[in-house]
Amino acid sequence: MSANERIRPDVPPVADLGAYLTVDEFEEAARGRLPRMVFDYYAGGAGEEWTLAENRRAFERWVLRPRVLVDVSEIDLRTTVLGQEVAFPILLAPTALQRMAHRYGELATARAAASVGALMVLSTVSTASMEEVANSGARRWFQLYVLKDRELTAELVKRAHAAGYGALVLTVDAPILGRRFRDDRNRFSLPPGIAMANLEGMGLPESEGSRMFAFFVERHDASFAWDDVAWLASLTPMPIVLKGIVRGDDARMAVDAGVQALVVSNHGGRQLDGASATIDVLPDVVGAVEGRAEVLIDGGIRRGSDVMKAMALGARAVLIGRPYLWGLAVDGEAGVRRVLELLRDDFALAMALCGCPKVSDIDRSLVAPAPGGLR
Ligand SMILES: Cc1cc2nc3c(=O)[nH]c(=O)nc-3n(C[C@H](O)[C@H](O)[C@H](O)COP(=O)(O)O)c2cc1C
Repeated sequence: MSANERIRPDVPPVADLGAYLTVDEFEEAARGRLPRMVFDYYAGGAGEEWTLAENRRAFERWVLRPRVLVDVSEIDLRTTVLGQEVAFPILLAPTALQRMAHRYGELATARAAASVGALMVLSTVSTASMEEVANSGARRWFQLYVLKDRELTAELVKRAHAAGYGALVLTVDAPILGRRFRDDRNRFSLPPGIAMANLEGMGLPESEGSRMFAFFVERHDASFAWDDVAWLASLTPMPIVLKGIVRGDDARMAVDAGVQALVVSNHGGRQLDGASATIDVLPDVVGAVEGRAEVLIDGGIRRGSDVMKAMALGARAVLIGRPYLWGLAVDGEAGVRRVLELLRDDFALAMALCGCPKVSDIDRSLVAPAPGGLR
């Protein structure tokens, strides 16, 4: 990689990506590489960032109960999500504006995902277009924000289908953008030369605070409700995934509306501060769905044991957001690949040590509330 491909050419290139052993190490390295406004946009959450921290803390309130004397000489991580095979049950969550982290942005992420057999969810507000990302060959779903301009929204859906996206992920936890004080303080705006590639000609409006917040107020359709899900489904043969469900009753409504999968998510703590950690509400959602849809989860997943806990509590797969953004910031495609490999290998280790040679061996008995925990 030449120096001008990095956002901060003054920071020396990475000598040995293999030296990074944890997601936290990638985060620290990314902090040193990214301009403050960009790091804060990626790392930050809504309000006091209580939910952001709670997503992580909650994993400590569950413990694993390993099974022993099982032949784990071969570990098979493969599974399917909505019928699509993935090499391991860790997907890339949709995250906006990736060219702020690296010159190739979503293209680097997609190439890394393709190289390890992972599935990527592309954000509506990506900085490479959905057609460009499709050329990478990565397995892909498209995340949709419904705009006030419904014709333009329908056009995005049709383009995603035409470009081979395997599902439409409707984000339901962001009718209005959460209030992110870091972005307000930094007066967040798009750095020069970076644009929302799927929304040609659209920029972020002027604002005293975050210009992304102002964009949502101006363009995003906060009136979208349950009745509109049928309208969306009528536009496309793609299966619909609702991202941002955190209650059993909403999960039941989603399944009744014909949705094929749900993502238990609080948007990585970026929307409603004070909302529960996702791992804590997963059992409620899984129970309500009764196997009628696949349940995925994201929020705070940073190691293999987190993936194991989520799967044991009934998730079909997990998604990660910030971890791969840190990889992208550190070393583009290679950095994203290293983060995916690191999490994949850590999850394989957790499977072996829990006595699970196959993903289908993971069950509810492998996890319990931590002794002395709140539960
Ligand atoms: C910088 C950033 C941008 C995001 N952009 C989007 C987006 O455009 N659409 C969306 O549905 N979710 C978005 N999310 C939420 C992620 O899809 C995901 O729910 C969250 O990052 C998971 O938590 P984690 O970062 O702790 O893994 C974004 C998250 C981050 C950190």
